[in-house]
Amino acid sequence: MAVLTTLYEPIARDLERVCQIFDDELFSDLPLINDLCAYVRQYRGKLLRPGLLLLSGKACGKTTDEHLTLAAVVEMVHMATLVHDDVLDDADLRRRCPTINRLEGNEAAVLLGDYLISHAFHLCSLLESQHASRVIAATTNIVCEGELQQVHHRGDFNLGLDDYLQIITRKTASLTGACCRLGAHFAGAGAEPAANLERYGLAVGIAFQITDDVLDIIGSEKRMGKTLGRDLEKSKLTLPVIHCLTRADDTLRKELHLLLAGSSPDRSRLRNLLETTDSINYSLDAARDYVESAIARLEELPPSQARHNLSRLAKLIISREQ
Ligand code: IPE
Ligand code: IPE
Ligand code: MG
Ligand code: MG
Repeated sequence: MAVLTTLYEPIARDLERVCQIFDDELFSDLPLINDLCAYVRQYRGKLLRPGLLLLSGKACGKTTDEHLTLAAVVEMVHMATLVHDDVLDDADLRRRCPTINRLEGNEAAVLLGDYLISHAFHLCSLLESQHASRVIAATTNIVCEGELQQVHHRGDFNLGLDDYLQIITRKTASLTGACCRLGAHFAGAGAEPAANLERYGLAVGIAFQITDDVLDIIGSEKRMGKTLGRDLEKSKLTLPVIHCLTRADDTLRKELHLLLAGSSPDRSRLRNLLETTDSINYSLDAARDYVESAIARLEELPPSQARHNLSRLAKLIISREQ
């Protein structure tokens, strides 16, 4: 995304070093491990989590070597969740390439995800301060809880808005929140500004996942570069469907149940059903509200290029197509 390059301009050099730290940490002299890691080293994603961490640092002061290490740590944690998520979702495509599970099978993908998490904690343990390890560990605990909650609620047509928000807050927003908190903390911010930036990151993460869930239904696989439609296929209820179910009459509800329970659900039929209750627009409006609440948090920081870019990044997250 070209816009992202502009937003990352103040941290461009830092990001290059972060990628180097990431690659060095994963280097192994065992060729078979190195070959497997080559898949994750080769294809960069949007680097949203390192971006949030570094911009939060810059918005509160200066970025340090600790920021660079931690930015690599959060990207590694994120990669681990993606590698595991693609096993759970039986996905074929990630970052425009075949998934590890497709290339090497589920067993190798599960173990590679473990390897990534283990290296993330190893990298984190190199820091003097224990603060980061504690924040990251508390966050990965919460991410796992969210993932387990999601699996538990598969096919649960009574899943309400609050349950959904809890799941996405845990599985996605807790990490983006932690990125912003860590960025602020290691730039010398006090408890209050760090907590405030964490709240910005939480709201951004919620908006991000709502948008991702909408794109899973209406997005283009070609543009997104990853397998879409799996939420429906795996009977995962997301905001548009939850909203539609609350508005649906008996006939529509029955059809939605059948569609979500089917073995090969029809994405375009789902889109048509959601249109009758305007549920895609409702979801995008909800994401926009979270972005506005995130941006409001930034008011408490002194004006800077980094603060401005955090604000633009929050807006970009909901207008993205990838
Ligand atoms: C995908 O995250 C997983 C979700 C939380 C929806 P990203 O869209 O940030 O993935 P990459 O890192 O850019 O590939
Ligand atoms: C994954 O959510 C969230 C994680 C924390 C891994 P999704 O299942 O929606 O992510 P994508 O769409 O496959 O990237
Ligand atoms: Mg997935
Ligand atoms: Mg998704």
